[in-house]
Amino acid sequence: MWLEKEKFNSAQLRRLAGAAVRYLRVRGVTEVVWVLDEKETEPGNIQATVEGAILGDYDSDPYRTERDGERRIDVLALATGGLGVNDQARAALSRGRIIAEAQNFTRELVNEPSNRLTPTLLAERAQQMAAQFGLECQVLGPKEIRDLKMGAFWAVAQGSEEPPRLIVIRYLPQDAPDSPVVGLVGKGITFDTGGISIKPSEAMHEMKTDMAGGATMLGVMRAVAQLKPRVRAIALIPATENMPSGKAYKPGDIITSMSGKTVEILNTDAEGRLVLADALTYAKQLGCTVLVDAATLTGAVTIALGNITTGVFGWKQEWVDRVLASAAAVGERMWQLPVDEEYRELYRSTIADLANTGGRYGGAITAAMFIGEFAGDTPWVHLDIAGTRWSNEEKPYLAKGPTGHPVRTLVHLLMNPVTK
Ligand code: BES
Ligand code: MN
Ligand code: ZN
Repeated sequence: MWLEKEKFNSAQLRRLAGAAVRYLRVRGVTEVVWVLDEKETEPGNIQATVEGAILGDYDSDPYRTERDGERRIDVLALATGGLGVNDQARAALSRGRIIAEAQNFTRELVNEPSNRLTPTLLAERAQQMAAQFGLECQVLGPKEIRDLKMGAFWAVAQGSEEPPRLIVIRYLPQDAPDSPVVGLVGKGITFDTGGISIKPSEAMHEMKTDMAGGATMLGVMRAVAQLKPRVRAIALIPATENMPSGKAYKPGDIITSMSGKTVEILNTDAEGRLVLADALTYAKQLGCTVLVDAATLTGAVTIALGNITTGVFGWKQEWVDRVLASAAAVGERMWQLPVDEEYRELYRSTIADLANTGGRYGGAITAAMFIGEFAGDTPWVHLDIAGTRWSNEEKPYLAKGPTGHPVRTLVHLLMNPVTK
C-alpha cells in the first residue's frame, strides 16, 4: 500500500490493519498482536485499527462447503509499547469492535440470496438482532400496510407470492432530548426482477443485494444499541420482492401513495422510490424530525460514481453537510450531486401528480428528487448506494462482495447528533 508519512491518517490505518489480517489469516495465523507507536495510540487511530482488522476478517463465501477450516483470526491484541493503557483507549477499542461487527452484520445480510432472505426472513433477522441488543422491533404485514393506505409500497408488493414486511425499530432513550428524532429509512427489496418491466437476465442475480439500504439501517441500529448515544432514532425498512405476475402492477397504472399524492407508473423497475415514498411519509407520521434514506436506487449513480463513491442528495444543505462530514471522518467516500427545481419537469405526469421515472438523463437526480417530494419540508438526505454496496474487486484490505457501506457514516452521524 502507498503511504506518505505526512498524509498518514486513520483511514489508511484502517486499511493497513485490514490488509494485514487478510494476509495473515489465509496463511493460517490465528493470533495477531498489533504494535501501536506513540502517534497511533490516539483513540481515533485505535478505533480505526480495530475496525480494519475486523472488517478484514469477513468472509463472503458462507455457503461454500469445501472450506479449508475456519480461517479466522481468534485473537487480536493491541500492544502500546509501554505507553500505558487508559480508559479512553479501551473505549476506542470497544467502539471499533462494535462498529465493525455491525458493518459485517450488514454485509452478511446483503450477501444472502433471495431464497434465504425473503421479506419475512429479513424481518425475523431484524427481530432477532433487536432482541439481542435490547431494541424495540415492530413488524407490519400486508394487512397493516394496506390499512395505512401505503398504496405505493403495496403496488410493488402485490406481484409477489412472498408477503411484504414493514420493519420498524425504535431507539428512544429516556435521557435524550425530544428532538431531533432521526428517521433512518432503508430500501428493502429482497429481490428486484424489475417486475413487468423486467430486467435483462445477465446481471439479474445481483439484485439479491437490493435490500442493502435496509441492511445498512439494521447494522446502524445494532451499533447504536450498544454505543448508546443520547439521540432518538427510528429505523424503517419497507421490505418486499419486485416480481412480475398476474397480480403485478403494470406500466400505466396510477397508484395513490400514503401521502395522497398520485403516481403514474411508467416503469415497474423504478420500484425503490415507491416503497421509500410511503416509508418516508410514515416516518414523519411517527414523529421523525430529520430523515436519511439509504437505497440501491439507480444504475445511473454507478455510471456517475462507480463502486467507490456514494451519491448524496438533499435540499437542506446544513443536514447534507453533516452527513458529508461524518462520511469524511470515517473514511467512506461520498459526493453530493445536485437537486434543482429545473429537473422536476422530467418526472411530471400528464395524468397524475408525478411519474415514477424521469428517463435516462440525470436518472440518479430525478430518482432522488422523487423521494424528496415525500420528505417535503423535513430535512432529508438521500444516499444512493447502488454502486458502493458491493465491491466488484477483491482489495488487499477487503473481500470482494458486500461492503457494508455506509454503516460507519450513519453511526458517526448519530454519535454526533444535531443540536436543533
Ligand atoms: N435496484 C435498481 C438499481 C440498481 C442498479 C441497484 C444496479 C444496484 C445495481 C433499481 O430498482 C432500478 O431498477 N432502477 C432503474 C430505474 C429506471 C427504471 C428509471 C435503473 O436504474 O435502471
Ligand atoms: Mn428496479
Ligand atoms: Zn431496485
